Parts: sequence; C-alpha cells; structure tokens
Amino acid sequence: MKHIMTENYEEMSRKVAEMVIGRIREQGNLVLGLPTGNTPIGFYQELVKDYKLNYTSYQHARSINIDEYIGMSGDDPKSYRYYMNHHLFMHINMKKENIHIPNGLAVDVEGECFCYDQVFEEIGPMDVLILGIGHNGHIGFNEPGTSFQSTTHKVELTEETRQMNARHFKSLDRVPEAAITMGLKSMMDSKEIFLMVTGDGKTEAYTQFLNGRVTEDFPASILHSHPNLTVIVDQSTINTPDNR
Ligand code: GLP
Repeated sequence: MKHIMTENYEEMSRKVAEMVIGRIREQGNLVLGLPTGNTPIGFYQELVKDYKLNYTSYQHARSINIDEYIGMSGDDPKSYRYYMNHHLFMHINMKKENIHIPNGLAVDVEGECFCYDQVFEEIGPMDVLILGIGHNGHIGFNEPGTSFQSTTHKVELTEETRQMNARHFKSLDRVPEAAITMGLKSMMDSKEIFLMVTGDGKTEAYTQFLNGRVTEDFPASILHSHPNLTVIVDQSTINTPDNR
C-alpha cells in the first residue's frame, strides 16, 4: 500500500487527477471505476481542466460507476447519473455507449445487477478504480457486514448512511432507502485502486482503516489485501470535528 499525505483538498484532487491522467495517456482504452459524493468533485474538476487545456482524450476510455440510488431517474439532480454528467461526462469526449451506471429505475433490480456484472465480463476488470470512504467504512454502498465475495447487488442503506447523505437532499425522508452497488469482489478485481480520504468527521474511519484489521464489519478494510492500492489523504480534514 502506498500512502500519500496532502496538505489540503485541492492538492489531494490534483495528485489523484495527475495519476489518473497519466494512466489514460499511457492506455487510451482504460477502464475506469468512478465514485460520487463530495470527495471526488475536485478530482473531476481537475480532469475537466486538463481536458480543456491538454486535450487528453477519453474517446476510447470506458467507465463503470460504482453505485446508484434505487427509484431515481438519471434526470433527477440527486441521482448519481446526473451528478456524473454534470461534473464530468458533459465536459469530456467519452462516448455515451462507454459509460456504465446502474439504472436506478430498473423494475427488475436483480436483473439489473446481473446485467451490470456482465459489463465486467465484457470489458474486463477495471484498470483503475477511484474510491471515497463513508463514515462507517463503506465503499460504494457496501455497508458494514457486506460479504467480501459480493458482486453487484441491492443494498438497504443504513440509517447512518442515509443521515450522512441527507445533506444532499431537502430532508432525511427524501433520501432513498436503497441503492445498487458494485460489489467488493468486483472492486478488488480492479488492477489499481486509489482511495481518497477527505471530509469532516472521517478521522475515525481513517483511524480504523489504518489499524489494518480486515473485517466485513468495516468494508474498506478489504483494500488492505489489494496488491496495488494508493491511499491519498487530505490532512486538513483529518482530526476535524464531525460537522455533518
Ligand atoms: C456515499 C457514496 C460513496 C462515497 C461516500 C462518501 O454514500 N455512495 O461512494 O464514497 O458516500 O461520501 P463523501 O465523499 O460525500 O464524503
């Protein structure tokens, strides 16, 4: 595991973007695993900035997003599809058919999960997966207790996660109760993983991650067994109070 400490959010975002842009330049048809949340917004801004300045091309790149709320249309500004379009896809030249995000409106959720797993079969494991971390150690929407062998599945969100994500909604009762997430096994199949740690109140999650005990009670701990993991930490938010 490589560990990079950065002074602030901007530096963290820039560092991750530099590494990812480097990989895209080396391999045009890179398969990227992409997250949402507050953590990667600066990273996406850096990718867009670089695209405009240096024309790094995404024409052959593919992306697989890690999760989506159930019951939410991609036109809904709270959906992760909308978020991705807004922060990244509308600004770069990735082809629509190369973008994969679970369909939050699928009537047959199990069928949707099955189809999502087929994407990995078709385009291979991810080359680079970028992750944030939740306060309870969740990655994607893999909540504590999720099997390390999990593939794409439906998740009932914990109260803690719903409360945490309520800041993006008008009120807690508007936060969806369930989501579709990429499983932990699929994440671990990625050739390389970047874990970004930033945000008020993440100190406990970070400390728990560092203690290294690999347990399904703390999903991010699985990453310790990955052969090519880089953890990038925004020091300015570690040891800050939880202002959720
Ligand atoms: C959300 C997302 C995760 C994200 C995490 C942290 O629930 N499903 O992919 O990493 O919470 O969110 P944030 O980056 O806003 O702190």
